[in-house]
Amino acid sequence: MITMQRRTLALALLAGVFGVAQAADPIKIGFLVKQAEEPWFQDEWRFAEQAAKEKGFTLVKIGIPNGEKMMAAIDNLAAQKAQGFVICAPDVKLGIAVERAAKRHKLKVMSVDDQLVDGKGQPIASIPHMGISGYEIGKQVGQGLAEEIKARGWNLAEIGALRIAFDQLPTARERTQGALDALKAAGLPVANVIEAPQAKTDTESAFNAANIAFTKNAKFKRWVAFGMNDEAVLGAVRAAEGRGFKQDAMLGIGIGGSQTALNEFSKPAPTAFFGTVLISPRRHGYETALNVYEWVAENKAPPPVTLTNGTLMTRKNQAEVRKTMGL
Ligand code: GLA
Repeated sequence: MITMQRRTLALALLAGVFGVAQAADPIKIGFLVKQAEEPWFQDEWRFAEQAAKEKGFTLVKIGIPNGEKMMAAIDNLAAQKAQGFVICAPDVKLGIAVERAAKRHKLKVMSVDDQLVDGKGQPIASIPHMGISGYEIGKQVGQGLAEEIKARGWNLAEIGALRIAFDQLPTARERTQGALDALKAAGLPVANVIEAPQAKTDTESAFNAANIAFTKNAKFKRWVAFGMNDEAVLGAVRAAEGRGFKQDAMLGIGIGGSQTALNEFSKPAPTAFFGTVLISPRRHGYETALNVYEWVAENKAPPPVTLTNGTLMTRKNQAEVRKTMGL
């Protein structure tokens, strides 16, 4: 009798030990980004690493420049026994593929920056998301441009407004729409808006798009430029320089505030890259990684959608704005 009881006890203890061992499986979380070479994404990774260090989980960072690499990365995460991942996909239309792969591998998934959509272009509700409030931040860009136009005494009726566009990405469309609406509200004639669609979301593509637009619209002697991020605006600024439009004839405000913008601000002479709306790579990197960690470790699901805000930052106020954002 006593022996039996002991055995049962031993078995129960053993089960307990295994139970604990299972719960204490090392936590591994992926962080997949579409453009690993872009300073914004490097900052996100850096802050995600901070969360990993603090909480004691392993962060697996993978660049996913296309759909094939993205699918391989998700399979790879599953093979290394990760339990979840954060993703900024190379194309938001890959949403259903991401959702299915995550389900198949029993991985928790959350998106960052670019919200994934289904076949009808609707956001996928089962995937929590953190992104910027694109329209509002775009409006800050437009208002910043309008204020500086006024400060310089430029005539809105004579200015070309270059919209570096990447309309297949909803957040990009919202951002430039916000900027455009603010400029129109300030009195910019609609006819002065010049469309410059970029083939990809990097500086070179924006440079090429801007060059074509400048060639076609030689009547404007002064320009403002806006786009989805700092890289877009920087491309326009470089293209303008190539045509002799320096900072006294050209004005650009980006979105981001990572190294792309800081490099411009640290040049000895101001360039036409006047400012940027600083957004928070700390929130997007640290918080999303933490969200997925808590989802895995504590079964606490992230909020369905979190939209973050930004602050206009220029050469002049960069130090204090970055400090306020905790950067
Ligand atoms: C998109 C852009 C990035 C950055 C993020 C911010 O993913 O491609 O450059 O602006 O949004 O959320």
